Formats: sequence, C-alpha cells, structure tokens
Amino acid sequence: MNRLEGRSIIITGAASGIGRAMAFAFTHEGANVLLVDKEEDSLKELHTELAKSNGRVITMTCDVSNEQEVAAVVSKAEFEYGGVQVMVNNAGIMDDFIPADHLSNELWERVLKVNLYGPFYFSREVLPIMIKKGKGVIINVASVGGIQGCRAGAAYTTSKFGLVGLSKNMAFMYAKKGIRCNVIAPGGVETGIGKDMKPDIFGAERAMSGSSNMLRMGKPEEIASIAVFLASDESALMNGDVVVADGGWTAY
Ligand SMILES: NC(=O)c1ccc[n+]([C@@H]2O[C@H](COP(=O)([O-])OP(=O)(O)OC[C@H]3O[C@@H](n4cnc5c(N)ncnc54)[C@H](O)[C@@H]3O)[C@@H](O)[C@H]2O)c1
Repeated sequence: MNRLEGRSIIITGAASGIGRAMAFAFTHEGANVLLVDKEEDSLKELHTELAKSNGRVITMTCDVSNEQEVAAVVSKAEFEYGGVQVMVNNAGIMDDFIPADHLSNELWERVLKVNLYGPFYFSREVLPIMIKKGKGVIINVASVGGIQGCRAGAAYTTSKFGLVGLSKNMAFMYAKKGIRCNVIAPGGVETGIGKDMKPDIFGAERAMSGSSNMLRMGKPEEIASIAVFLASDESALMNGDVVVADGGWTAY
C-alpha cells in the first residue's frame, strides 16, 4: 500500500476491464488518478465506487483518437494535480480478426487511431511536462498480438506492433531525461473487449488455432499489479521492456 502515494496518473480506457482494475490498484496505492474513457455512464459508476479510495479521483470522457480531447485531459491533470507523473495508455479495441485481403479502410483507420494514435497523442502531450520535471513513466498496454503475428487480425496486430516500436523509441530517446517507457503485453484476459465482436470466420480460425496452448485466461487484476510495479520506483532500471503476461502461452 501507498507505493504510488501522491503521484498523478492518467489511465485511459479506465471504465472497463484492465483499465478499471488499474484504477482500483493505483488508488489503493495512494495515487491521484485521472480516469479517461469514452463511456460516460461507466465512468460515473466507477467514480462512485472509488469514493473511499486512498488517492484523489477525477473522471473525464475523452476519445483517445481525438487530439483536442487528449490535450484537454492533460491540461486538466496539470491544473488539478500539478503535472503527470505516470501515463497509462490502456484504451484499445479489437478488429474482428479480419485479415488483410478484406480489411476495410474504415476499420484499419479506426483501430490504428485508437490503439496507436491515441497513445502517441497522449505521449506527445505528457512528455514536455515530464521532461521539465526530469522524471516520468509511460506504460503502454500492447498485447501478445504486438510481438507475434498470429493473435488477431491485420489492423490490431499492426497497431500493437506499432505501439511496441513507439514505446522502445521513446524509452531510448528520453532515458537520460529521467523518463521510462515500458509495455505490458497480455495474453487473453477476461474483459469486455470481445463483447461486440463479429469474428471473421477465416481470420478467427487462424488466430485461435494456437489458443489450446494457453494455460488460462488472465484476470484484469493480474495485469493491473504489473502496471503498479512498472509505475513505481521498484522498476527503476526497467526501460524499453515488453513485459509479457500470458501464463507461458508465447513460450511455446
Ligand atoms: N482482454 C484481452 O484479452 C487483452 C489481451 C491483450 C491486450 N489487451 C489490451 O488491453 C487493453 C484494455 O482492454 P480490455 O481487455 O480491458 O478491454 P475493455 O473493452 O474491457 O476495456 C477497454 C476500454 O477502453 C475504452 N475505449 C475504447 N475505445 C476508446 C476510445 N477511442 N477512447 C477512450 N476510451 C476508449 C472502452 O470504452 C473500454 O472501457 C487494450 O489496449 C487491449 O488491446 C487486452
């Protein structure tokens, strides 16, 4: 408890699944959080549930793929908390396992805008604040689909590989400025990410062909505890790392 006391932390995609578990874990550790999601009602419920937490809680609706809305969130964090010490880019969407030959421009653009442009927009906004303070942590939630080609469709896979690349570049670029950037790459986790999915039959069959090797689905809390570690000074030497959390699935 209190490993993140007083730290100002933005979490995107906080209204459900992994982001929601992070909201509980981070406030339990005493962080002041600014929770972001596009789902206003779920954010309000979360705000009420977190009322008794250790740290302060602010919620804000924002589409992470909208530059202006992202800038407004970061301004709010500066105004309310005096800066941003930790940025967690967690919001993400799936792509119905659609392979490249029949992937529409619309889906390709939507998935890249949320999963890759969103983290880029947030990182670009928070980096000057962190550089000025000489300290900061960025945590990007990718996927095992960001290190292997066979876990999702073409758009999701591309977005998560891109996110790993962006993270490694930022990790190296800003290492001497006191900023660390690491990636969490979960395997399957029990969340709402698949609830509106209409899986492509061919793509899903190919992507799921190795799923029998997966030990079990992870729990959102098992990813949140890794994020707490990466946000804290306990991981001070870790920078540019991809922490895989899949029970050994990709070890096969
Ligand atoms: N669940 C899994 O099996 C799994 C596996 C690997 C990686 N991930 C990654 O974990 C992250 C969290 O996903 P989850 O599984 O908790 O899913 P989830 O659907 O339960 O939660 C994602 C949240 O992101 C929000 N969101 C989506 N688009 C947004 C946008 N444009 N702007 C703001 N918020 C937006 C949603 O409203 C939702 O609350 C994602 O980046 C996902 O790719 C999930």
